[in-house]
Amino acid sequence: MTATPPASAHLRVRPARAEDVAAIFENIGHWAAQGKMLVRPMQNIFENLRDFYVAEALDEEGNATFVGNGALHILWGDIAEVRGLAVVPHVQTRGVGRALVAACEAEARRVGIPTLFAWTYSVAFFEKCGFTLIDKSRELHPRVWSECLRCPFFGGCNENGLIKRLDGVPMPQNLPEPPPAQVPPGIR
Ligand SMILES: CC(C)(COP(=O)(O)OP(=O)(O)OC[C@H]1O[C@@H](n2cnc3c(N)ncnc32)[C@H](O)[C@@H]1OP(=O)(O)O)[C@@H](O)C(=O)NCCC(=O)NCCS
Repeated sequence: MTATPPASAHLRVRPARAEDVAAIFENIGHWAAQGKMLVRPMQNIFENLRDFYVAEALDEEGNATFVGNGALHILWGDIAEVRGLAVVPHVQTRGVGRALVAACEAEARRVGIPTLFAWTYSVAFFEKCGFTLIDKSRELHPRVWSECLRCPFFGGCNENGLIKRLDGVPMPQNLPEPPPAQVPPGIR
């Protein structure tokens, strides 16, 4: 894992590049091994590389240290998921997670997606970012279950779903109906 940057370092968030994939893979793998998030194979990261943002701490000489990653994955015309969000160990609560979510939100606004969604165990963090906890036993957008089939907890989901409606982004016109979902057993 990368070194801890000084507290005074300047934070930069930018779209991920191919050369970032090893660091993203290692960072997600670290937290997935602790059960904090879904493991993400390297192939999955490459295939979805344009979804990802990387956060870097810049020192006074402009040298960059990788401090986190997050992704915005479009699920349908009206909803996109913040996923693969992970800040490197020892850099928590310095605003890195919030900056990555802000980058995802800006991208959703750019493409005209009015709703953000997240599955997580870090409810308080997402609430600080303006998300609201939802009751997952209620009828949800069918696309939010898109990754559940590859989740080891498919049969016993204990993640929390949170949603954020983006002010000023209208619902897209003429949206087709999404396909029906395979909702994990035991949800409702
Ligand atoms: C969850 C995570 C992304 C948060 O990132 P972070 O950089 O530590 O969070 P930030 O510093 O941007 O925090 C933003 C706000 O949330 C709060 N916050 C962050 N983590 C929190 C937690 N676990 N519990 C309560 N509040 C929390 C911060 O105190 C801050 O509040 P403030 O604005 O009042 O100061 C990071 O801790 C992480 O990578 N965790 C492991 C992997 C994970 O759980 N990923 C999410 C899966 S989707």
